[in-house]
Amino acid sequence: MSGSGRALPADLERLREIEARFAMPTYPRAPVEFVRGEGSRLWDSDGREYVDLFSGLSVHNAGNCHPRIVAAIADQAATLGGTSNLFYSEPAMRLTQRLVDSSLGGRAFLANSGAEANECAIKLVRRHAHARGVGRPEIVVLDHAFHGRTMAALAATPRLAREDLFGPLPAGFVPVPRDDPQALADAVGPNTAAVMLEPIQGESGIHPIGDDVLAAARSACDESGALLVFDEIQTGMGRTGTLWAHQGIGVTPDVMTSAKALGGGLPVGACVTAPAVGEGLTLGEHGSTFAGGPICARAALAALDVIDTPAVRGNVAERHAQLREELAEDAAVAGIRGRGLMIGIALADGLEAAAIGRRALELGVVVNAPNPKTIRLLPPLTISADELAAGLARLRDAFGAG
Ligand SMILES: Cc1ncc(COP(=O)(O)O)c(C=O)c1O
Repeated sequence: MSGSGRALPADLERLREIEARFAMPTYPRAPVEFVRGEGSRLWDSDGREYVDLFSGLSVHNAGNCHPRIVAAIADQAATLGGTSNLFYSEPAMRLTQRLVDSSLGGRAFLANSGAEANECAIKLVRRHAHARGVGRPEIVVLDHAFHGRTMAALAATPRLAREDLFGPLPAGFVPVPRDDPQALADAVGPNTAAVMLEPIQGESGIHPIGDDVLAAARSACDESGALLVFDEIQTGMGRTGTLWAHQGIGVTPDVMTSAKALGGGLPVGACVTAPAVGEGLTLGEHGSTFAGGPICARAALAALDVIDTPAVRGNVAERHAQLREELAEDAAVAGIRGRGLMIGIALADGLEAAAIGRRALELGVVVNAPNPKTIRLLPPLTISADELAAGLARLRDAFGAG
Protein backbone atom coordinates (compact mmCIF):
# COMPACT_ATOMS: atom_id res chain seq x y z
CA MET A 1 0.00 0.00 0.00
CA SER A 2 1.09 3.61 -0.53
CA GLY A 3 0.99 6.13 2.34
CA SER A 4 -2.54 7.13 1.35
CA GLY A 5 -3.87 3.58 1.52
CA ARG A 6 -4.11 3.39 -2.30
CA ALA A 7 -3.22 -0.12 -3.46
CA LEU A 8 0.10 -0.21 -5.29
CA PRO A 9 0.09 -1.50 -8.89
CA ALA A 10 1.23 -5.14 -9.12
CA ASP A 11 4.25 -4.06 -11.14
CA LEU A 12 5.39 -1.75 -8.38
CA GLU A 13 4.95 -4.45 -5.73
CA ARG A 14 7.16 -6.68 -7.87
CA LEU A 15 9.86 -3.98 -8.14
CA ARG A 16 9.76 -3.44 -4.39
CA GLU A 17 10.28 -7.16 -3.80
CA ILE A 18 13.29 -7.19 -6.14
CA GLU A 19 14.68 -4.12 -4.40
CA ALA A 20 14.18 -5.60 -0.93
CA ARG A 21 15.99 -8.78 -1.87
CA PHE A 22 18.69 -7.64 -4.31
CA ALA A 23 19.44 -3.90 -4.12
CA MET A 24 21.68 -2.22 -1.57
CA PRO A 25 19.21 -0.13 0.42
CA THR A 26 20.79 3.23 -0.33
CA TYR A 27 17.74 5.17 -1.56
CA PRO A 28 14.41 6.15 0.05
CA ARG A 29 12.29 5.51 -3.05
CA ALA A 30 8.75 6.90 -3.30
CA PRO A 31 6.12 4.31 -4.26
CA VAL A 32 5.87 5.34 -7.91
CA GLU A 33 7.32 3.91 -11.09
CA PHE A 34 7.55 6.52 -13.82
CA VAL A 35 7.42 4.97 -17.25
CA ARG A 36 7.16 7.92 -19.64
CA GLY A 37 8.06 11.60 -19.81
CA GLU A 38 7.43 14.47 -22.18
CA GLY A 39 8.51 18.05 -21.46
CA SER A 40 7.31 18.90 -17.97
CA ARG A 41 4.99 15.90 -17.65
CA LEU A 42 5.58 12.37 -16.38
CA TRP A 43 3.34 9.31 -16.41
CA ASP A 44 3.43 6.39 -13.97
CA SER A 45 2.83 2.70 -14.60
CA ASP A 46 -0.88 3.22 -13.82
CA GLY A 47 -1.17 5.85 -16.57
CA ARG A 48 -1.47 8.74 -14.06
CA GLU A 49 -0.04 12.05 -15.20
CA TYR A 50 2.24 14.26 -13.05
CA VAL A 51 3.68 17.77 -13.39
CA ASP A 52 7.44 17.42 -13.09
CA LEU A 53 8.88 20.14 -10.83
CA PHE A 54 12.03 18.10 -10.13
CA SER A 55 13.59 17.22 -13.54
CA GLY A 56 15.15 14.00 -12.24
CA LEU A 57 17.15 16.09 -9.74
CA SER A 58 18.02 18.90 -12.14
CA VAL A 59 18.97 16.61 -15.00
CA HIS A 60 16.21 17.27 -17.52
CA ASN A 61 16.61 21.05 -17.71
CA ALA A 62 15.54 20.81 -21.37
CA GLY A 63 12.42 18.87 -20.35
CA ASN A 64 11.89 15.11 -20.42
CA CYS A 65 12.71 13.37 -23.71
CA HIS A 66 13.37 16.55 -25.68
CA PRO A 67 13.07 15.49 -29.36
CA ARG A 68 16.32 17.18 -30.35
CA ILE A 69 18.29 15.34 -27.64
CA VAL A 70 16.53 12.04 -28.36
CA ALA A 71 17.37 12.37 -32.06
CA ALA A 72 21.02 13.16 -31.37
CA ILE A 73 21.37 10.12 -29.09
CA ALA A 74 19.59 7.80 -31.52
CA ASP A 75 21.61 9.04 -34.49
CA GLN A 76 24.96 8.64 -32.73
CA ALA A 77 24.01 5.27 -31.17
CA ALA A 78 23.22 3.98 -34.65
CA THR A 79 26.46 5.40 -36.09
CA LEU A 80 29.30 4.78 -33.64
CA GLY A 81 29.72 4.21 -29.91
CA GLY A 82 32.89 5.07 -28.04
CA THR A 83 36.27 4.00 -29.42
CA SER A 84 38.15 5.26 -26.31
CA ASN A 85 40.06 8.47 -25.74
CA LEU A 86 43.03 7.09 -27.64
CA PHE A 87 41.41 8.28 -30.88
CA TYR A 88 39.78 11.50 -32.03
CA SER A 89 36.06 12.05 -31.78
CA GLU A 90 34.28 15.11 -33.16
CA PRO A 91 31.50 15.30 -30.51
CA ALA A 92 33.97 15.24 -27.59
CA MET A 93 36.16 17.97 -29.09
CA ARG A 94 33.14 20.13 -29.96
CA LEU A 95 31.77 19.72 -26.44
CA THR A 96 35.15 20.58 -24.91
CA GLN A 97 35.39 23.74 -26.99
CA ARG A 98 31.82 24.73 -26.28
CA LEU A 99 32.20 24.33 -22.52
CA VAL A 100 35.37 26.42 -22.48
CA ASP A 101 34.02 29.10 -24.84
CA SER A 102 30.81 29.45 -22.84
CA SER A 103 32.52 29.81 -19.46
CA LEU A 104 36.09 30.30 -18.26
CA GLY A 105 38.14 30.25 -21.47
CA GLY A 106 40.88 27.81 -20.45
CA ARG A 107 40.64 24.04 -20.88
CA ALA A 108 38.19 21.27 -20.07
CA PHE A 109 38.29 17.62 -19.03
CA LEU A 110 35.17 15.58 -19.73
CA ALA A 111 33.93 13.12 -17.08
CA ASN A 112 30.89 10.91 -16.44
CA SER A 113 29.27 12.39 -13.33
CA GLY A 114 29.35 15.24 -10.88
CA ALA A 115 31.50 13.44 -8.35
CA GLU A 116 34.03 12.59 -11.06
CA ALA A 117 34.08 16.18 -12.29
CA ASN A 118 34.88 17.25 -8.73
CA GLU A 119 37.54 14.54 -8.34
CA CYS A 120 39.20 16.03 -11.41
CA ALA A 121 39.00 19.53 -9.91
CA ILE A 122 40.46 18.30 -6.61
CA LYS A 123 43.38 16.57 -8.32
CA LEU A 124 43.94 19.62 -10.49
CA VAL A 125 44.04 22.16 -7.64
CA ARG A 126 46.35 19.92 -5.61
CA ARG A 127 48.64 19.54 -8.59
CA HIS A 128 48.60 23.31 -9.11
CA ALA A 129 49.53 23.80 -5.44
CA HIS A 130 52.38 21.29 -5.64
CA ALA A 131 53.70 23.21 -8.65
CA ARG A 132 53.80 26.31 -6.38
CA GLY A 133 55.79 24.35 -3.81
CA VAL A 134 52.93 23.63 -1.40
CA GLY A 135 53.73 20.23 0.08
CA ARG A 136 50.50 19.50 1.99
CA PRO A 137 47.79 21.38 0.08
CA GLU A 138 44.45 22.12 1.75
CA ILE A 139 41.05 22.75 0.23
CA VAL A 140 38.68 25.06 2.10
CA VAL A 141 35.04 23.97 1.82
CA LEU A 142 31.79 25.29 3.28
CA ASP A 143 29.64 23.67 5.93
CA HIS A 144 26.52 22.03 4.46
CA ALA A 145 28.22 21.66 1.06
CA PHE A 146 27.55 18.69 -1.19
CA HIS A 147 30.21 17.72 -3.71
CA GLY A 148 29.48 14.03 -4.32
CA ARG A 149 30.04 10.57 -2.93
CA THR A 150 33.37 9.35 -4.27
CA MET A 151 36.16 9.50 -1.69
CA ALA A 152 37.66 12.94 -2.28
CA ALA A 153 34.29 14.51 -3.15
CA LEU A 154 32.96 12.96 0.07
CA ALA A 155 35.86 14.37 2.07
CA ALA A 156 34.84 17.77 0.64
CA THR A 157 31.27 17.23 1.91
CA PRO A 158 31.48 17.92 5.66
CA ARG A 159 28.15 16.48 6.78
CA LEU A 160 28.68 13.13 5.00
CA ALA A 161 32.45 12.73 5.50
CA ARG A 162 32.03 10.02 8.14
CA GLU A 163 35.50 8.88 9.17
CA ASP A 164 33.87 6.25 11.40
CA LEU A 165 32.13 4.65 8.41
CA PHE A 166 34.43 5.30 5.46
CA GLY A 167 37.78 6.31 6.94
CA PRO A 168 40.53 6.85 6.31
CA LEU A 169 39.24 9.63 4.07
CA PRO A 170 41.58 11.79 1.98
CA ALA A 171 43.01 14.47 4.28
CA GLY A 172 43.37 18.19 3.68
CA PHE A 173 39.77 19.43 3.59
CA VAL A 174 39.04 22.38 5.88
CA PRO A 175 35.36 23.19 6.49
CA VAL A 176 34.32 26.73 7.43
CA PRO A 177 30.90 28.18 8.28
CA ARG A 178 28.76 28.89 5.25
CA ASP A 179 27.87 32.48 6.05
CA ASP A 180 31.04 33.89 7.61
CA PRO A 181 33.36 35.77 5.20
CA GLN A 182 35.95 36.42 7.91
CA ALA A 183 36.16 32.75 8.92
CA LEU A 184 36.67 31.86 5.27
CA ALA A 185 39.38 34.49 4.80
CA ASP A 186 41.10 33.33 8.00
CA ALA A 187 41.12 29.70 6.81
CA VAL A 188 42.94 30.55 3.58
CA GLY A 189 46.73 30.66 3.87
CA PRO A 190 49.96 29.64 2.18
CA ASN A 191 48.98 25.94 2.19
CA THR A 192 45.59 26.50 0.57
CA ALA A 193 45.23 24.90 -2.84
CA ALA A 194 41.65 26.04 -3.36
CA VAL A 195 38.40 27.29 -1.97
CA MET A 196 35.64 25.06 -3.32
CA LEU A 197 31.96 25.96 -3.09
CA GLU A 198 28.55 25.76 -4.74
CA PRO A 199 27.37 29.32 -5.58
CA ILE A 200 23.94 28.14 -4.41
CA GLN A 201 24.01 25.05 -2.21
CA GLY A 202 21.54 22.57 -3.65
CA GLU A 203 21.40 19.44 -1.54
CA SER A 204 21.37 21.38 1.72
CA GLY A 205 18.05 22.91 0.65
CA ILE A 206 18.83 25.79 -1.76
CA HIS A 207 21.03 28.22 0.13
CA PRO A 208 22.56 30.98 -2.01
CA ILE A 209 26.06 31.84 -0.80
CA GLY A 210 26.18 35.52 0.22
CA ASP A 211 27.91 38.08 -1.99
CA ASP A 212 30.21 38.91 0.94
CA VAL A 213 31.33 35.27 1.24
CA LEU A 214 31.88 34.96 -2.51
CA ALA A 215 33.88 38.19 -2.57
CA ALA A 216 35.93 37.04 0.44
CA ALA A 217 36.65 33.73 -1.30
CA ARG A 218 37.77 35.48 -4.47
CA SER A 219 40.08 37.94 -2.73
CA ALA A 220 41.52 35.31 -0.34
CA CYS A 221 42.38 33.15 -3.35
CA ASP A 222 43.89 36.11 -5.23
CA GLU A 223 46.07 37.03 -2.25
CA SER A 224 47.27 33.50 -1.48
CA GLY A 225 47.64 32.06 -4.98
CA ALA A 226 44.91 29.48 -4.30
CA LEU A 227 42.31 28.63 -6.94
CA LEU A 228 38.62 29.38 -6.58
CA VAL A 229 36.50 26.37 -7.62
CA PHE A 230 32.78 26.67 -8.24
CA ASP A 231 30.81 23.43 -8.22
CA GLU A 232 28.13 24.31 -10.78
CA ILE A 233 26.82 20.78 -11.06
CA GLN A 234 23.37 21.83 -9.87
CA THR A 235 23.50 25.59 -10.50
CA GLY A 236 24.73 25.28 -14.09
CA MET A 237 23.10 24.63 -17.45
CA GLY A 238 20.75 27.62 -17.21
CA ARG A 239 19.19 26.63 -13.89
CA THR A 240 19.69 30.04 -12.22
CA GLY A 241 18.90 32.18 -15.27
CA THR A 242 22.35 32.39 -16.88
CA LEU A 243 24.08 29.42 -18.52
CA TRP A 244 26.47 29.25 -15.54
CA ALA A 245 25.52 30.72 -12.18
CA HIS A 246 28.79 32.65 -11.84
CA GLN A 247 27.77 34.70 -14.89
CA GLY A 248 24.94 36.17 -12.84
CA ILE A 249 26.80 36.95 -9.63
CA GLY A 250 29.87 38.95 -10.57
CA VAL A 251 32.48 36.57 -9.11
CA THR A 252 34.37 34.42 -11.60
CA PRO A 253 36.06 31.22 -10.44
CA ASP A 254 39.32 29.73 -11.76
CA VAL A 255 37.80 26.27 -12.07
CA MET A 256 34.21 25.18 -12.62
CA THR A 257 32.61 21.75 -12.53
CA SER A 258 29.43 20.74 -14.32
CA ALA A 259 27.31 17.58 -14.64
CA LYS A 260 23.60 16.74 -14.12
CA ALA A 261 21.79 18.64 -16.91
CA LEU A 262 24.97 18.87 -18.97
CA GLY A 263 24.32 15.45 -20.48
CA GLY A 264 20.68 16.09 -21.40
CA GLY A 265 19.74 12.96 -19.42
CA LEU A 266 22.92 10.95 -20.07
CA PRO A 267 25.87 10.83 -17.66
CA VAL A 268 28.27 13.64 -18.53
CA GLY A 269 30.46 15.74 -16.26
CA ALA A 270 33.13 18.32 -16.92
CA CYS A 271 35.87 20.24 -15.17
CA VAL A 272 36.63 23.58 -16.86
CA THR A 273 39.45 26.00 -16.10
CA ALA A 274 40.43 29.62 -16.71
CA PRO A 275 43.55 30.32 -18.83
CA ALA A 276 45.64 31.24 -15.75
CA VAL A 277 45.38 27.63 -14.54
CA GLY A 278 47.49 26.54 -17.50
CA GLU A 279 47.15 23.08 -18.96
CA GLY A 280 45.58 21.65 -15.81
CA LEU A 281 46.25 17.92 -15.80
CA THR A 282 48.61 16.48 -18.39
CA LEU A 283 49.51 13.19 -20.05
CA GLY A 284 49.02 10.21 -17.75
CA GLU A 285 47.73 12.33 -14.86
CA HIS A 286 44.02 11.73 -15.43
CA GLY A 287 41.67 9.79 -17.67
CA SER A 288 38.44 7.80 -17.92
CA THR A 289 37.27 5.12 -20.33
CA PHE A 290 33.77 6.41 -20.95
CA ALA A 291 34.45 10.15 -20.62
CA GLY A 292 33.63 12.11 -23.76
CA GLY A 293 32.04 9.10 -25.46
CA PRO A 294 30.27 10.25 -28.62
CA ILE A 295 26.71 9.29 -27.63
CA CYS A 296 26.92 11.22 -24.36
CA ALA A 297 28.77 14.12 -25.98
CA ARG A 298 26.14 14.42 -28.72
CA ALA A 299 23.44 14.46 -26.03
CA ALA A 300 25.31 17.23 -24.19
CA LEU A 301 25.74 19.32 -27.34
CA ALA A 302 22.03 18.97 -28.08
CA ALA A 303 21.15 19.88 -24.48
CA LEU A 304 23.29 23.03 -24.79
CA ASP A 305 21.55 23.87 -28.08
CA VAL A 306 18.16 23.64 -26.39
CA ILE A 307 19.03 25.37 -23.13
CA ASP A 308 21.47 28.10 -24.09
CA THR A 309 19.02 30.44 -25.81
CA PRO A 310 17.55 33.84 -24.96
CA ALA A 311 14.05 32.29 -25.08
CA VAL A 312 14.88 29.73 -22.37
CA ARG A 313 16.64 32.36 -20.24
CA GLY A 314 13.56 34.57 -20.61
CA ASN A 315 11.29 31.70 -19.60
CA VAL A 316 13.37 31.03 -16.49
CA ALA A 317 13.01 34.67 -15.41
CA GLU A 318 9.27 34.76 -16.14
CA ARG A 319 8.53 31.46 -14.41
CA HIS A 320 10.58 32.57 -11.39
CA ALA A 321 8.42 35.69 -11.10
CA GLN A 322 5.24 33.62 -11.56
CA LEU A 323 6.31 31.19 -8.87
CA ARG A 324 7.00 33.94 -6.36
CA GLU A 325 3.69 35.59 -7.14
CA GLU A 326 1.63 32.40 -6.87
CA LEU A 327 3.24 31.36 -3.58
CA ALA A 328 3.50 34.84 -2.01
CA GLU A 329 0.19 34.82 -0.18
CA ASP A 330 0.25 31.18 0.91
CA ALA A 331 0.33 30.82 4.69
CA ALA A 332 2.36 27.62 4.36
CA VAL A 333 5.25 29.54 2.82
CA ALA A 334 7.63 31.27 5.24
CA GLY A 335 10.05 32.32 2.51
CA ILE A 336 11.48 31.53 -0.90
CA ARG A 337 15.21 31.04 -1.50
CA GLY A 338 17.14 30.65 -4.72
CA ARG A 339 17.37 32.09 -8.20
CA GLY A 340 15.86 31.25 -11.55
CA LEU A 341 14.25 27.82 -11.35
CA MET A 342 16.37 26.61 -8.43
CA ILE A 343 13.93 27.22 -5.61
CA GLY A 344 13.75 26.34 -1.93
CA ILE A 345 10.41 26.97 -0.26
CA ALA A 346 10.89 27.51 3.48
CA LEU A 347 7.83 26.05 5.19
CA ALA A 348 5.91 27.82 7.94
CA ASP A 349 6.27 26.53 11.51
CA GLY A 350 4.54 23.24 12.16
CA LEU A 351 4.73 22.00 8.56
CA GLU A 352 6.77 18.96 7.61
CA ALA A 353 8.37 18.75 4.18
CA ALA A 354 8.47 14.96 3.76
CA ALA A 355 4.72 14.65 4.39
CA ILE A 356 4.04 17.47 1.93
CA GLY A 357 6.29 15.84 -0.66
CA ARG A 358 4.45 12.52 -0.33
CA ARG A 359 1.03 14.18 -0.58
CA ALA A 360 2.17 16.25 -3.56
CA LEU A 361 3.10 13.06 -5.39
CA GLU A 362 -0.34 11.60 -4.66
CA LEU A 363 -1.87 14.79 -6.06
CA GLY A 364 0.20 14.56 -9.23
CA VAL A 365 3.20 16.86 -8.83
CA VAL A 366 6.83 15.82 -8.34
CA VAL A 367 8.75 17.94 -5.82
CA ASN A 368 11.52 17.17 -3.35
CA ALA A 369 12.07 17.56 0.40
CA PRO A 370 15.84 17.99 0.96
CA ASN A 371 15.37 18.72 4.66
CA PRO A 372 12.42 18.74 7.10
CA LYS A 373 11.60 22.43 6.54
CA THR A 374 12.18 22.87 2.80
CA ILE A 375 10.44 21.91 -0.42
CA ARG A 376 12.84 22.07 -3.35
CA LEU A 377 11.64 22.86 -6.88
CA LEU A 378 13.87 22.23 -9.91
CA PRO A 379 11.43 22.27 -12.85
CA PRO A 380 12.48 21.93 -16.48
CA LEU A 381 13.61 25.33 -17.75
CA THR A 382 11.17 24.94 -20.63
CA ILE A 383 8.09 24.60 -18.41
CA SER A 384 5.11 26.66 -19.60
CA ALA A 385 3.14 29.12 -17.48
CA ASP A 386 0.13 26.77 -17.49
CA GLU A 387 2.15 23.72 -16.49
CA LEU A 388 3.81 25.61 -13.66
CA ALA A 389 0.45 26.94 -12.49
CA ALA A 390 -0.99 23.40 -12.51
CA GLY A 391 1.99 22.04 -10.57
CA LEU A 392 1.88 24.83 -7.99
CA ALA A 393 -1.88 24.41 -7.52
CA ARG A 394 -1.32 20.72 -6.70
CA LEU A 395 1.58 21.60 -4.39
CA ARG A 396 -0.52 24.15 -2.54
CA ASP A 397 -3.22 21.52 -2.05
CA ALA A 398 -0.50 19.30 -0.60
CA PHE A 399 0.57 21.93 1.95
CA GLY A 400 -2.50 20.85 3.94
CA ALA A 401 -0.83 17.48 4.56
CA GLY A 402 2.17 19.05 6.32
C1 LIG B 1 26.46 20.50 -6.22
C2 LIG B 1 26.66 19.05 -6.51
N1 LIG B 1 27.90 18.57 -6.65
C3 LIG B 1 28.13 17.27 -6.93
C4 LIG B 1 27.09 16.38 -7.05
C5 LIG B 1 27.38 14.92 -7.35
O1 LIG B 1 26.97 14.63 -8.65
P1 LIG B 1 26.78 13.09 -9.09
O2 LIG B 1 25.63 12.56 -8.31
O3 LIG B 1 26.53 13.16 -10.57
O4 LIG B 1 28.06 12.38 -8.77
C6 LIG B 1 25.78 16.83 -6.90
C7 LIG B 1 24.64 15.89 -6.97
O5 LIG B 1 23.59 16.11 -6.44
C8 LIG B 1 25.56 18.19 -6.61
O6 LIG B 1 24.32 18.68 -6.45
